[in-house]
Amino acid sequence: MTGRRKLIAGNWKMNGLKGQLGEVSAIAALAGPRSEIDVALFLPATLIAAAAPLASTVLIGAQDCHQAEAGAFTGNLSAAMLAEAGAGCTLVGHSERRQYQHESNADVAAKAAQAHKHGLSVVLCVGETLDTREQGDEIAHGFVSDQLVASLPEGADAGWLTIAYEPVWAIGTGKVASPAQVAAMHAALRATLVKALGAATGNAMRILYGGSVSGDNAADLLHTDNVDGALVGGASLTAEKFAPIIAAA
Ligand code: 13P
Repeated sequence: MTGRRKLIAGNWKMNGLKGQLGEVSAIAALAGPRSEIDVALFLPATLIAAAAPLASTVLIGAQDCHQAEAGAFTGNLSAAMLAEAGAGCTLVGHSERRQYQHESNADVAAKAAQAHKHGLSVVLCVGETLDTREQGDEIAHGFVSDQLVASLPEGADAGWLTIAYEPVWAIGTGKVASPAQVAAMHAALRATLVKALGAATGNAMRILYGGSVSGDNAADLLHTDNVDGALVGGASLTAEKFAPIIAAA
């Protein structure tokens, strides 16, 4: 027993129009009786206000927030705006934002702190590229551990912060990391958290796995040491595909 509640989270990325809100309701119905785990959906910001009242059993979240309180940042959304729209949580540091929006570790740490300031819980993503993984497991563990330490916000606490390990080479590729690879990385990240935040906080903080999680591989991954849940992309878009992953937890 670790005492860490499992979290099964879906990231819809840039998918979902109002016509898909029925899937949110269906996922909420699935999550309903399973009070022993947490379920979250990171939706496009345009759906948050409509989804929040449909989904009392699911935490509705955003996929990013800006690190500033407000101001001249055309096209961005602040943590206060997302909280007001009904978000209870947000992702920060997803590899797609690190890659395409050139977000640095310092940006990610600042976004996490800003989200927490406005009462949002945070799932902070880290992960290595294929290039780094091919340099060997030790190099990959070192890279992701350093990325994690540099992305941790001031005052990081397990009450509001969760880590998601998502190897970039496993995202959307169908190439899932093996349970042995996941166990080794999560053990390295656990040790890193304990060193950075102390034993109590470091051992209490959840570490999710993400990257091509599906109904077929969820049970193996979720029963791996130090895997406290999953961050799911494609397979979270419908209740039908998400259901076996929730059930596996
Ligand atoms: P896939 O599950 O589609 O590989 O996406 C993973 C992911 O990036 C979740 O944030």
